[in-house]
Amino acid sequence: MVGSSIAFLCASNALDDIVLLNRTKSKALGEALDISNAIPKNSDITIKGTDDYSEIRDSKIIVITASTGVYLKNRNEMIGAQVNMIKNIASEIKKNCNSSNILIISNPVDVLTYYFIKETNFPRNNVIGIASSLDSSRFRYLISKKIGVKQSQISNAYVLGEHGDSMVPIFSQTKIDGKNALKIINHAQKMEITKDLRDYWKSLRNFKSRSQFGIAKNTLDVIVSILNNNPLLSPTSILLNGEYNQENVCMGVLTTIESKGISKIHTMDLDESEKKSFDLSAQTIRENIQSV
Ligand code: 2OP
Repeated sequence: MVGSSIAFLCASNALDDIVLLNRTKSKALGEALDISNAIPKNSDITIKGTDDYSEIRDSKIIVITASTGVYLKNRNEMIGAQVNMIKNIASEIKKNCNSSNILIISNPVDVLTYYFIKETNFPRNNVIGIASSLDSSRFRYLISKKIGVKQSQISNAYVLGEHGDSMVPIFSQTKIDGKNALKIINHAQKMEITKDLRDYWKSLRNFKSRSQFGIAKNTLDVIVSILNNNPLLSPTSILLNGEYNQENVCMGVLTTIESKGISKIHTMDLDESEKKSFDLSAQTIRENIQSV
């Protein structure tokens, strides 16, 4: 449902022409028929469904949300099947596109972003894993609930690292009403927020069996920034080339996104324990990459 939710947001905001590609053609056709009715009446954008990769030729943006099944315990459960899937998708995309921005949503997102780049040799700034912005939305929400402040009072609340159990909420840079959040959040609260953040998706699985709208809106923001060349500051998963002393691993870091994809990687000041957790997260992703 993530792909169709993103398409729904793009169509209802009349962003641009949309192609929905699914291995089950009837599903793509059905979703396209439904979403067609969400196009605003003064817009001429089109939406179509297909199972044919040639239809996405030279798309400006490609969003990958495919999955080989449903995982219940952790996002790495089907890692072998997911990596095979992304390699197949990557080779099909490579045949049809050479200058697209690729947004990877499928999990495990950091591992799949890595394998997409290895398969295609596309520039790293055009292959963007989307998840840390979703984790950051959850971080902001959980702080607001725990501390009893409005979300609008919270700024710089970013989550870096793996989109998984080793993700790293950066409390040291978070501000509440412009003040360092750690002057307001105590140690026990910090631990609880971190646990709830890491387990957030499991609550979604338990209550409604899927995660859908949060990731869709966070993806829309990236699409809009690329289409309008409107710089967006957002944490995304990108292949690191020495930033944060990490290489040959994709993981969530703070980036700026514009029409050409990621235009800047920001190196945040992390405190000692955040640095340690960040390195551990890199190691976890690396092991997952090597496990395939
Ligand atoms: C999420 O965090 C399942 O990765 C998905 O909601």
